[in-house]
Amino acid sequence: MTTSSDSSELIHRSTSTRNPISGRKQQSPSSTSPLKHTTNRITNILLYRVPFLLIGIAIASIFFLAFPLTDSPDSLDSLYYPTESSTLPTRRILLEESTSTTTTKNNGRVPGGVRGKRKRIVVTGGAGFVGSHLVDRLIERGDSVIVLDNMFTGRKDNLLHHLGNPNFELIRHDVVEPILLEVDQIYHLACPASPVHYKYNPTNVMGTLNMLGLAKRIGARFLLTSTSEVYGDPLQHPQAETYWGHVNPIGVRSCYDEGKRTAETLAMDYHRGAGIEVRIARIFNTYGPRMCLDDGRVVSNFVAQALRKEPLTVYGDGKQTRSFQYVSDLVEGLMRLMEGEHIGPFNLGNPGEFTMLELAQVVQETIDPNAKIEFRPNTEDDPHKRKPDISKAKELLGWQPNVSLREGLPRMVADFRQRLFGDSKGSGNSGVSTE
Ligand SMILES: NC(=O)c1ccc[n+]([C@@H]2O[C@H](COP(=O)([O-])OP(=O)(O)OC[C@H]3O[C@@H](n4cnc5c(N)ncnc54)[C@H](O)[C@@H]3O)[C@@H](O)[C@H]2O)c1
Repeated sequence: MTTSSDSSELIHRSTSTRNPISGRKQQSPSSTSPLKHTTNRITNILLYRVPFLLIGIAIASIFFLAFPLTDSPDSLDSLYYPTESSTLPTRRILLEESTSTTTTKNNGRVPGGVRGKRKRIVVTGGAGFVGSHLVDRLIERGDSVIVLDNMFTGRKDNLLHHLGNPNFELIRHDVVEPILLEVDQIYHLACPASPVHYKYNPTNVMGTLNMLGLAKRIGARFLLTSTSEVYGDPLQHPQAETYWGHVNPIGVRSCYDEGKRTAETLAMDYHRGAGIEVRIARIFNTYGPRMCLDDGRVVSNFVAQALRKEPLTVYGDGKQTRSFQYVSDLVEGLMRLMEGEHIGPFNLGNPGEFTMLELAQVVQETIDPNAKIEFRPNTEDDPHKRKPDISKAKELLGWQPNVSLREGLPRMVADFRQRLFGDSKGSGNSGVSTE
């Protein structure tokens, strides 16, 4: 039996002649057989091999799209990102870079550097008090925002107005567990911020480590919301960022104070060791709408008590001082810090200083002049004084607070009134903080 290749061989032979000088075979110049042979081979390839090649390429493409390659875990990350990282939930926001359409609405409010391309941003703790106001501003600016929150002290209500917005995503997630996301910036706020809550859920170290690991993997800029509590019961007044603090490492508040100090250390180590772009804000007492009603922080305590016609509880002699910053001022400072070129730490607070008794008076003037004041023994390690030196933020971020306590308090009271009397569930103070 003759195969097709045999027959082409025969044709080839019959059309070749011998060179009279060398005696070697040579092709007849007029012969078309070799051309035909080549054409046949090309046809064979086109018909039988190319389709298989294309199918192969298609299968490989599908495979790599479904299982994208990730960097191999290294050094610190490998401790917190197990090698089988493909089993972790991976989420992406795919966005075309586009110019924000809402920047014109914010005339004068968004600093120059903040305007521009739409960013993909994670806000951990974004369902909480400060986080939800930050999310409002980022969405308003035209960014795409993912909130990670375990709802420990946060509330879905704070973000209800964004649900359904394609630029917004809420993920119930505890930041002490790793997660993979692809974003440009991480605002790390997740952390119970009042004594009532933080002693039950110390989040700072593991949560911060996980988020720094994420920032390292994806090359995102990372902003840590630290606290004025890193100064402890300060021996310097007002407190500048150069002051190293005076903190009791084994007290009832240390899991928060030392947790934040460790978080700052981790951020700087990741910056120096892994080249992560970090930003550190040291936040002083902040108040405003959406604060947790009964978390024992002094402003929310006084306001809720006055509205409920209960006496305002002052711990100690009421002469300890704090400064109170309205939440919109803080959010502006955080955004300027994130977009700017300086790592920090930066004090973000209002330098106006009030004793607890003065604060109680402002609350009386705003809500109920007849509200009584009740004195109770002070809590352990309560700082005597707190007032930020904000010269650094003024100079390098061009930031300073604009809303005074007498302006800001009524806005908060309106929100509390509505929440308290529309919803009677929240009650029962079980701790106190002058933060
Ligand atoms: N408000 C202030 O006066 C003040 C002062 C200094 C520092 N800070 C810092 O600012 C940040 C925000 O504070 P806030 O006042 O909005 O407090 P908040 O309690 O209202 O918000 C914290 C949010 O983090 C979430 N959270 C807590 N643990 C979490 C975890 N393990 N995983 C995921 N989410 C978690 C909570 O559910 C909540 O939504 C905190 O890091 C706090 O330490 C606030």
